Amino acid sequence: MELELLNSIKRTTVLGAGKMGHGIAQVFAQAGCAVEVYDIDPKALEHVKDHIKANLQFLLNHKVITKESIPSTLSRINLEPDFDAAVSKADLILEAAPERLDLKRDIFTKAEAVCSTKTILTSTTSVIRVGDIAEVLQKPERLVGTHWMNPPYVLPLVEIIRAPKTSEQALNHVKTFLEKQCGKRTLICNDTPGFIVNRLAGAILKEAAILIEEGVATHLEIDQAWKEHLGPVFLQYGPFGNLDYIGLDVIVLAAKYLAWALDDDQYKLPKWLEDTVLKGDLGIKTGKGIYEYPNQSPEQLQQKRAEELLELLQKVGLESELK
Ligand SMILES: NC(=O)c1ccc[n+]([C@@H]2O[C@H](COP(=O)([O-])OP(=O)(O)OC[C@H]3O[C@@H](n4cnc5c(N)ncnc54)[C@H](O)[C@@H]3O)[C@@H](O)[C@H]2O)c1
Repeated sequence: MELELLNSIKRTTVLGAGKMGHGIAQVFAQAGCAVEVYDIDPKALEHVKDHIKANLQFLLNHKVITKESIPSTLSRINLEPDFDAAVSKADLILEAAPERLDLKRDIFTKAEAVCSTKTILTSTTSVIRVGDIAEVLQKPERLVGTHWMNPPYVLPLVEIIRAPKTSEQALNHVKTFLEKQCGKRTLICNDTPGFIVNRLAGAILKEAAILIEEGVATHLEIDQAWKEHLGPVFLQYGPFGNLDYIGLDVIVLAAKYLAWALDDDQYKLPKWLEDTVLKGDLGIKTGKGIYEYPNQSPEQLQQKRAEELLELLQKVGLESELK
């Protein structure tokens, strides 16, 4: 169904002024929007301006913003203790209440009863399927998942979630707003519990918890393995980019062994990866794996990797101590 949407987003409302809500309200105000901030707990509202002032001072100290911008950013934020008044004039509503499906459904039902038919609805749920929230709405096509990262005024990525009934028009409107007005990077993903970021984070946590339970390593040792190896390597290449350097044939054999030794088929790699190997696409050594590497020899690519990783490790003070 074609949605009637406003051309630009100027008036925003944030529902829930906790850790995420106050930070997102700040970004909206920095982006030049008027922001109404509502929280069911008046005490939470009391502290919003102080938190935002401290965040802006932090950004000023790091030369991210100018001193002159601070008063105008703060002047765009209005703390509104009345729910109806907070939502009635919004072009876009962002819900940042606790992670409970019933609560989020209730908030959007109440908001929909008061806001304009042109208002876009967004939620910063971190794991709840957006389609499940949308089920109670009269116009589910205008609900878009926007999973912001913590702290929202520092971390650039917002996952945008396309629920089954989300209209492409609403999705694109939100994407343009986040990128062009709020200066964010966006990643669109289809609706699933946990989306991309928290599904990956969940998988890592699940495995790390097993290693602790089995007495293989301590919390500190697992954090060390991440900070001193997987973190920097994944930062540079991501898990798939990194597989191409290891060699997909090597990975398939390693995965088969793990599935056998741990007696768990979850470790077995998917058929698409085995098929890639069967086609002879093994990663950088064949010029093609998950990604393609035209006009670069494996030696050149290895050298490039050594340079990229050394530069990164030197930046974070983690280079090898052997001189
Ligand atoms: N904390 C994180 O790192 C993080 C990161 C990304 C996304 N999220 C998601 O953001 C959302 C908010 O998380 P948070 O960490 O800011 O929680 P929080 O507990 O810090 O804040 C939630 C706020 O919502 C208020 N609230 C409760 N019921 C309400 C209602 N009916 N109407 C309006 N406000 C209400 C509470 O009073 C509180 O101030 C959750 O969905 C969470 O999963 C959290």
